[in-house]
Amino acid sequence: MALVTDSIRINRSVLKNRMTMAPTVKFEWAGDDGKLSRKHIEHYSERARYGIGLLCVEATAVTPDGRFDHQHIGLWDDSQIDEHRYVTDACRENGVVSLIQLNHTGIVTNPEMGPAIGPSAVETRRGIISTAMSLEQIHDMQQSFIEAAARAKKAGYDGIQLHGCHGYLINQFICRSTNHRTDEYGGSEENRARFAVEIIKKIRKECGRDFIISVRTAGADPDLESCADIAEEYVNAGCDYLQVSSGVNDPDPSLDLRDPMYNIICGLGVHFHDRFETMVPVSCVNGIHTPEQVKYLIENDLTDTVDLGRAMLADPRFPLAVLEGADYVRCFACPRCQYVFGTEHKCPAEALRNKNK
Ligand SMILES: Cc1cc2nc3c(=O)[nH]c(=O)nc-3n(C[C@H](O)[C@H](O)[C@H](O)COP(=O)(O)O)c2cc1C
Repeated sequence: MALVTDSIRINRSVLKNRMTMAPTVKFEWAGDDGKLSRKHIEHYSERARYGIGLLCVEATAVTPDGRFDHQHIGLWDDSQIDEHRYVTDACRENGVVSLIQLNHTGIVTNPEMGPAIGPSAVETRRGIISTAMSLEQIHDMQQSFIEAAARAKKAGYDGIQLHGCHGYLINQFICRSTNHRTDEYGGSEENRARFAVEIIKKIRKECGRDFIISVRTAGADPDLESCADIAEEYVNAGCDYLQVSSGVNDPDPSLDLRDPMYNIICGLGVHFHDRFETMVPVSCVNGIHTPEQVKYLIENDLTDTVDLGRAMLADPRFPLAVLEGADYVRCFACPRCQYVFGTEHKCPAEALRNKNK
């Protein structure tokens, strides 16, 4: 039986335990220059302090026109590197492995930031028709991911995570409803995986053998096995670690993947863990908000690591609650942390923590 306190190796880095902090954008903290703000640095440094094994910094734009909003961090320019060193230093000092998630919003780009471009011309959820990328645009975009990864390495990160789920550009390539291409980037699983596969291979060449390359991939969109086949393409290309979440579309609700202790999205990760057991470590995420759930998933060998999003936003001491039974404030599972554009961020768990200080 595995224990949460067991270390685990990813590429050549060793995580001190099985808990990881999921990427979670802190909306409205960055400036238009895409640099990490002081608030970001304090936020991540605090979350490195209380026992987490790996910390993944939020979705970071690889080009200025691939952002959610003006207040969204980026690594599209060398001038954006320095502030990240405070975060990577804090991780190193606390024995935490550090990743940063690289992203382009593609067809769901905020129109104030740039055009809606993606694999194909489709109607987007913003109600506009996207522009299909030319081969030259695809290659330029891949280059932007590679250059951002090189900057992440300079900033001291142990690796990067490609944002390959939740309906953003890499996910748009793998999803049939957003990719209608008939060239080598569309059609078969191999072709739909190609955009990310080529990025992975080039990052490996640019950043070296030891640099962790992970992909946060869509587990079922709607089909479980084709998504797993695509993930296998990533692994064969050099991906060291898979995190599994939702895609452009939600998983088919009839998929029998939930359990009283975890939901359907977390169940996707459990399924991938089964399939990739002998290949690479797999992480599951979503709705894991109590120490009991963390232990259940690890001790029953349902996943290699558990990825914690809102539990870590609600209380940076959550890992200590798992490791030592310390008190913690549980996430209220309200939607406030996700919808904060133009409003003040009012996490009730954070408010409660501040009150109890
Ligand atoms: C405020 C907020 C920001 C998020 N930002 C990201 C992100 O940058 N990249 C990403 O892949 N997922 C992002 N997510 C999704 C989380 O990583 C996670 O998958 C989701 O919250 C479900 O897990 P949880 O129940 O542990 O929070 C975000 C979620 C929240 C609540």
